[in-house]
Amino acid sequence: MQTKRIKEFPENFLWGASSASFQCEGAAHEDGKGLSVMDMRKQDPSICDFEVASDHYHRYKEDIALMKECGLKAYRFSIAWTRIFPEGNGEVNPRGVEFYNNLINEIVQAGITPIVTIYHFDYPQGLVDQYGGWTDRRSIDDYVNYAEFLFRTYGDRVKYWLTINEQDHVVHMPYRLGMSDENRREKERLGFLANHHMCVAAAKAIQKCHELVPDGKIGPATCFDMLYPTTNSPADALAWLDAMEIRNYYILDLNCKGEYNGTFRKYLEDRDMFPEVLDGDMECMKANRPDFLAFNYYASKSISACPLDDEHEIGDIEFQLLPSREAGVYQVVKNQNLNATLWGWEIDDIGLQSASRLLWERYRLPLLITENGFGNVEKWPEEGILEDDDRIDYLTRHLHAVKEAMNLGAEFIGFCCWSFMDLISGHSGFSKRYGLVYVNRTEHDLLDLERRKKKSYYWYKNVILNNGKDI
Ligand code: BG6
Repeated sequence: MQTKRIKEFPENFLWGASSASFQCEGAAHEDGKGLSVMDMRKQDPSICDFEVASDHYHRYKEDIALMKECGLKAYRFSIAWTRIFPEGNGEVNPRGVEFYNNLINEIVQAGITPIVTIYHFDYPQGLVDQYGGWTDRRSIDDYVNYAEFLFRTYGDRVKYWLTINEQDHVVHMPYRLGMSDENRREKERLGFLANHHMCVAAAKAIQKCHELVPDGKIGPATCFDMLYPTTNSPADALAWLDAMEIRNYYILDLNCKGEYNGTFRKYLEDRDMFPEVLDGDMECMKANRPDFLAFNYYASKSISACPLDDEHEIGDIEFQLLPSREAGVYQVVKNQNLNATLWGWEIDDIGLQSASRLLWERYRLPLLITENGFGNVEKWPEEGILEDDDRIDYLTRHLHAVKEAMNLGAEFIGFCCWSFMDLISGHSGFSKRYGLVYVNRTEHDLLDLERRKKKSYYWYKNVILNNGKDI
């Protein structure tokens, strides 16, 4: 709604930027690091591997200096589990521990608040080999031991922790669970079993964090695409409601309320996919509520009804990376009102306002945006700097949406744009850039990996300096 006055960003707002270990560090086989499921991923040969990435592992000092100069208040990054425990459990790797000690010290000395993701997609291959990874209950203890090690080692300097990044994208992407992409329908069942184990593991990690980190705060980093009913037909509205429950809220309801919401429970039961729940699991989740709710927001999706027909039975799913159509449930369709990125992600800043308000009203936890950004194909020009006006426009609009949501009562801790520097995209290699800082390499040619400030870098610096006054 239109309001008369709009609140300014609070003085302590954490203006930040994000990254993830496997997407920026490189040094994939250095200093004792073990293999993760991301290292094992068979990439399309036209896309680079994770071997060098942005070479942040060797250039972190330079990168943190650039963050300092930009005025960042927070840097959200992930720790590579396999640098700390190369096999996922067992022996600690002292060189990995030292790397993150140095990185965290550098961040803190620069006056920047570290926000650490404990696990961002790069699950140890060692645990998959030992017992099948997240689909086995032993995974809970191994995650909690790893998290406990991080709290004990870095908890004196790190006060903001994120349990698991985008758990929904682990549940629905078999390769992120260390499995092949074949027979995805069966993999959905295993994905929901893994989901239950991840929720129990996250709750136990929250408990440990509260015990071990003085003033520590911890929460999940979820993905949240705003969803809309495509038309005002009641059937579309119902499909939208179902999609919200089984795609957007199902993990958060477990994390924040310790419950399987009714729609999700029925969805799983009808498909014989309800996981084994042991005594104490739900109690553990209920007792260990997160301190805040972090979410990644890039786009919205339009949802239509998808009736059962002669060709489809309950449980037939079609995937476009994630589930996109399931007869008897919902289907994702193109939204004719929105422009999209080159990858078809529908750009929707108003959707961010709606998502923020819904999350705030449902869970009443302070919000932290851990990812928001604009992916594009970019090439540094012969003269001058890269003028990434589309990114500036995207971020300005989305920040304004945050302001609007705050104006209507939602509490925010901060906003981290994705990403500080160019890094390897989840599925599109180095050709899809998100950074405020250009990294001079191409998909397969490492060039000199020089860091160059894009126009958006200067824009963000100014936004931070003015505490978002002009947003
Ligand atoms: C989120 C992930 O899904 O979106 C990041 O947490 C990812 O790891 C980002 O890079 C953008 O997605 P993509 O596929 O464009 O890199």
